[in-house]
Amino acid sequence: MAALFEQSFLNGMTLRNRLVRSATWEGMCESDGRPTQRLIDYYRTLAKGGVGLIISGYTFVSLEGKQLPGKMGIHCDDFEREMPALTQTVHEQGGRICLQLVHAGGQTDSKNAGRQPLAPSAVKVDQFPELPQELTQEQIADIVAAFAAGARRAKSYGFDAVQLHGAHGYLINQFLSPHTNRRSDQYGGSMGNRCRFLLEVYRAVRQAVGPDYPLLIKLTAGDHLAGGLRAEDALIAAKALDAAGIDAIEVSSGTSASGRLSPVRTKIETPEQEAYNLALAMGVKREVGCKVLTVGGLRSLEVAQAAIAAGLDGIALSRPLIWEPDLPRRWQQGDTSKAKCISCNGCFRPGLKEGGIRCVVADA
Ligand SMILES: Cc1cc2nc3c(=O)[nH]c(=O)nc-3n(C[C@H](O)[C@H](O)[C@H](O)COP(=O)(O)O)c2cc1C
Repeated sequence: MAALFEQSFLNGMTLRNRLVRSATWEGMCESDGRPTQRLIDYYRTLAKGGVGLIISGYTFVSLEGKQLPGKMGIHCDDFEREMPALTQTVHEQGGRICLQLVHAGGQTDSKNAGRQPLAPSAVKVDQFPELPQELTQEQIADIVAAFAAGARRAKSYGFDAVQLHGAHGYLINQFLSPHTNRRSDQYGGSMGNRCRFLLEVYRAVRQAVGPDYPLLIKLTAGDHLAGGLRAEDALIAAKALDAAGIDAIEVSSGTSASGRLSPVRTKIETPEQEAYNLALAMGVKREVGCKVLTVGGLRSLEVAQAAIAAGLDGIALSRPLIWEPDLPRRWQQGDTSKAKCISCNGCFRPGLKEGGIRCVVADA
């Protein structure tokens, strides 16, 4: 039986354990998406803490796909100095780093996107102020090409892998979901059609990075919204990706409109409330041959170990590593008490104004 701190492999990439830092927006980039020294230092601390794979904060592939301020960009060739410095810093600590590629679609506003947001259909998304514009087929092709160009750049900068953001209500999720995709062309209607954009992005990115480079996806296993994507439909997407050659699926669920079933849930107090996407991840695992990870609410070593014992290939953490970047090392060295994170989401608050995310409880 595989164990949490055992080495693992993903399409040629060796990882020192099965713990992953799930993608986490840090708010530590310049307004043009350029990584700062602060971000590089932040990643050094994370890598030193012992996590096997760090997935970067979501990184926009084109300017109109930008959402929160301080977000990283992979849309241009201007960051040729900073990006390799970032990847090298992680490698020096024995870590591995994967870049998360995203287009926010309708989940942004014209202030951050520089134009009226673009989405599969002109459907306003809860929590976001503006009605998006429906994408033309030409614009869809441009975005697919932007994902591929971003992936190519990431590989050339020394990232060990790339991950598509196919969850949390962003553009790929918007195409998958009948709630946000009301198109009547080949990108809408049946689940097969709603998967088309995702598979076009997958194939373009795969072609850009080649067959021997780890390509992951953070995939929604359902929107938890009336009229939204259901778990059984998400399984169709997972199986199609698996057949196409994806290396790993990190299973998440929900969108910012899903209330208490959001991707970033609060009130995780008991072991039963932990690992809130585990059953969905196991559902995916049973149907695919690629590696499968779970994310969401993992707080204690026993729950993390049980997920691996149940057959998952890795577990991913976001908020616990904001308070304790050295949590993997702490657990491995025998202090097995649960993560200190109280899942309050206060880490979002400091944002760009205060130099990026941090745990406001630890600092209180
Ligand atoms: C401050 C913050 C920023 C986040 N940014 C991203 C992101 O850029 N991409 C992403 O896929 N998920 C993002 N998430 C969601 C996490 O990756 C993760 O799915 C979620 O927090 C649940 O895991 P946890 O309970 O270990 O925090 C973010 C979460 C937090 C708290």
